[in-house]
Amino acid sequence: MGPHDRVLITAALPYANGNLHVGHIGGSYLPADTYARYCRSAGREVLFICGSDDHGVPATLTARTEGCTPREVVTRYHEAQVKDFQGLGIRFDIYGSTSSPQHAAASQEFFLRVHRNGFLEKRRTKQLYDAQAGIFLPDRYVTGTCPFCGQSALGDQCEHCGKDQDALELIAPRSAITGSVPQVRETTHWYFRQDLLEGKLREWLAAKESWRAPVQNFALGMLKQGLKSRAITRDLSWGVPVPLPEDPDAEGKVLYVWFDAPIGYVTFTADLLEERGQARERYADWWKNPEVPIYHFIGEDNIVFHALMWPAMLMAEGTFQLPANVVANCFVNFQFPGHDEEKMSKSRGTAVWIHEYLRDGDPDPLRYYLTFIAPEAQRTAFKPDDLARRTNDELVGTFGNFIHRTLTFAARYFDGKVPEPGIPVAEAEEVQTHLKALPRLVGVELDAFRLKSAMGMVMDLARMGNRFFDYQAPWKQRKEDPARCATTLHTCLHIVKALAILSEPFMPFTSEKAAGFLGLSAGERGWAAAATPLEAGRPLGAAEPLFRKIE
Ligand code: 2FM
Ligand code: ZN
Repeated sequence: MGPHDRVLITAALPYANGNLHVGHIGGSYLPADTYARYCRSAGREVLFICGSDDHGVPATLTARTEGCTPREVVTRYHEAQVKDFQGLGIRFDIYGSTSSPQHAAASQEFFLRVHRNGFLEKRRTKQLYDAQAGIFLPDRYVTGTCPFCGQSALGDQCEHCGKDQDALELIAPRSAITGSVPQVRETTHWYFRQDLLEGKLREWLAAKESWRAPVQNFALGMLKQGLKSRAITRDLSWGVPVPLPEDPDAEGKVLYVWFDAPIGYVTFTADLLEERGQARERYADWWKNPEVPIYHFIGEDNIVFHALMWPAMLMAEGTFQLPANVVANCFVNFQFPGHDEEKMSKSRGTAVWIHEYLRDGDPDPLRYYLTFIAPEAQRTAFKPDDLARRTNDELVGTFGNFIHRTLTFAARYFDGKVPEPGIPVAEAEEVQTHLKALPRLVGVELDAFRLKSAMGMVMDLARMGNRFFDYQAPWKQRKEDPARCATTLHTCLHIVKALAILSEPFMPFTSEKAAGFLGLSAGERGWAAAATPLEAGRPLGAAEPLFRKIE
């Protein structure tokens, strides 16, 4: 196999502390799944890795509020996430958990290598402490005002301007647990000297010309401001213990969640290979093999971690390759008809939850719509009325209608079989020429992560099909010129085949049904097969509606 016949794709590990809404899906999981499906269809060997991010403050906070253990919280949400992903056809090869013993071991080993390589430094520091609750307040345990943009921020990151925060610099800090004003106390932590890697990171990032501009610019901008060393240990009990048993300062400390979480991608790769009967160490065939590009799909709030801190960690560890691309999407906002766009929020009721949607909604229209409004370069808004309109006009009215009318016609007048093409017809030949090139053209868009544009080309094919059908008017040709009619249907059925195959990354459930109408076996559904017509005489199944109208 040549280069890029194998790809490793990851999607950001969601915190196992809440349900998933359409913003999460549109931001990283759906684009990652779409790309992974395309790669598989194109015959590449793909590992598509995800899992829950179990550690960190959110899970501990929820456990406190609910009076249960963090383990109970993360198990519950992990299971809910698995269900949501399955319902939407987001098909990871593995959905792991960072609270597994395997992950603790992998993270500790990673930490020790970074330590031995001289990139960790122990420091006595000041930290906010909640005297009422009796614990130090790292990260999201503190809320306050962002010193950069003046909006409300959490102790580790500002969700408004995306800057990472030092909780001690927040204006008017408050404990997220008790709401009290925190004290400043001394503690010891290990700092990751990512600042030592600034030059290397800059050089590496500057060469990433194919990356989305906002990702590259954001990361280079952060480097310009200067990278600060970062505490990567916490005074918490929920997390991966700091693996320095001989050091009394390490007692009662765990790794910072953003240190262990991305290592989860590696752990889960080893978990997956083990599940498939290989040695865990074979993860190196993917992570330490320059022939395998690694693509991280994330939301915009994760750019700083995936484009800077994680690559710095990999450089400091020293044996891994670096990501080939960090594909980030912006946030998806929410907009009710007649209202202003706003951020998806649980408390304001402006989030569309996946489990609620799936109660009576179909997955493919949501996938279609989320790809259509994909926030590839800027934030976009989820508008429920727009989802309904596009489903009705584009999926029912165009895509579904074309497939339905073609198959119904073939069933009625061609005995439910693919006809032998009759006489050559210029317009049909034009369609054929287009179909020959299309899989490659759509593939180029997908490989450049322009998923919306790729899907647009597939929808355009359905439009072209309808225009061709209307223009040729086979219901007239049948009586006036049967040979032409056969050519028309042969060509339309080729379009149906191409739609079935090329829509798979975007609308897998629909693709499966459409391929079923044509009796395409798994082996006949490869990406490139969209270029070749169906053979004459192939029996066709009865067409059923592919989509339901949304009222
Ligand atoms: O922002 C989040 O939801 C994080 N849990 C993402 C982690 S991604 C990775 F690095 F693990
Ligand atoms: Zn800010």
